[in-house]
Amino acid sequence: MTRTDLSNVQVAKDYTGLCGLVADRIAALVQTKPNAVLGLATGSTPLGVYSALVRRHREEGLDFSRVTCFNLDEYYPMSPKSLHSYRQFMAMNLFDYINCPNWFVPDGLRRSASEIEQDCLEYEARIADAGGIDLQLLGIGRTGHVGFNEPGSSPDSRTRLVTLAEVTRQDAAPSFGGIDNVPRQAVSMGIGTIMDAREIVMMATGAGKAAIVRAAWTEDPTDHIPATWVRRHPNVHLRLDEGAASLLLEASLTN
Ligand code: F6R
Repeated sequence: MTRTDLSNVQVAKDYTGLCGLVADRIAALVQTKPNAVLGLATGSTPLGVYSALVRRHREEGLDFSRVTCFNLDEYYPMSPKSLHSYRQFMAMNLFDYINCPNWFVPDGLRRSASEIEQDCLEYEARIADAGGIDLQLLGIGRTGHVGFNEPGSSPDSRTRLVTLAEVTRQDAAPSFGGIDNVPRQAVSMGIGTIMDAREIVMMATGAGKAAIVRAAWTEDPTDHIPATWVRRHPNVHLRLDEGAASLLLEASLTN
């Protein structure tokens, strides 16, 4: 039997260590390529990375003035002014505190299907015009989603309107004050959009992610677990803390 390939996996002792590893990689990229294009994620996982980058900007002068950032997704429908929006999330956790004028989040405003389609094409075109994404940061959802590419998303999917899985809506329910307030849809970059990035850093923290991390890194690529496609990227790095890594390490020892 073949052993699970863990050559692109690094495990930090805890969440602080994990965020330090990822922030170091982003900072190194921005230092060597001041006009780097970053793909960014929301959710709780990258919060410590963003605070580490804010600290490095303040204390070490890490310069984001020529960096361009594209976020993966936004709930739909969602006003960009809502505190539940990913636009506000990114402002409050990163962009209000660093000197990066060029940052984009898909538009969640309610509008017609054809307008959404047009805006999704423009989002893709804007990424291409910026030169493509140098480094895409990803979390992973309990369904195996990356961005909001839920099970069933194909590897060549592009930015589009998607339907959220029930598990994903349940996970979001506490921050929305109940599942009834969680939108049923989102606008998300596709798996194909993500795979076009020159480098991918996927991160996960805590034992609650251990099972899906193991599946993502050991199962054959399948639409049922969208993160399995990401593992096929030629320059992908999985960064975990000990909780999130526990079942993957076990699997690598037993096969
Ligand atoms: C966020 C995103 C999602 C999250 C995932 C994990 O922009 O696209 O794929 O990365 O749902 O969420 P957390 O980090 O809250 O566990």
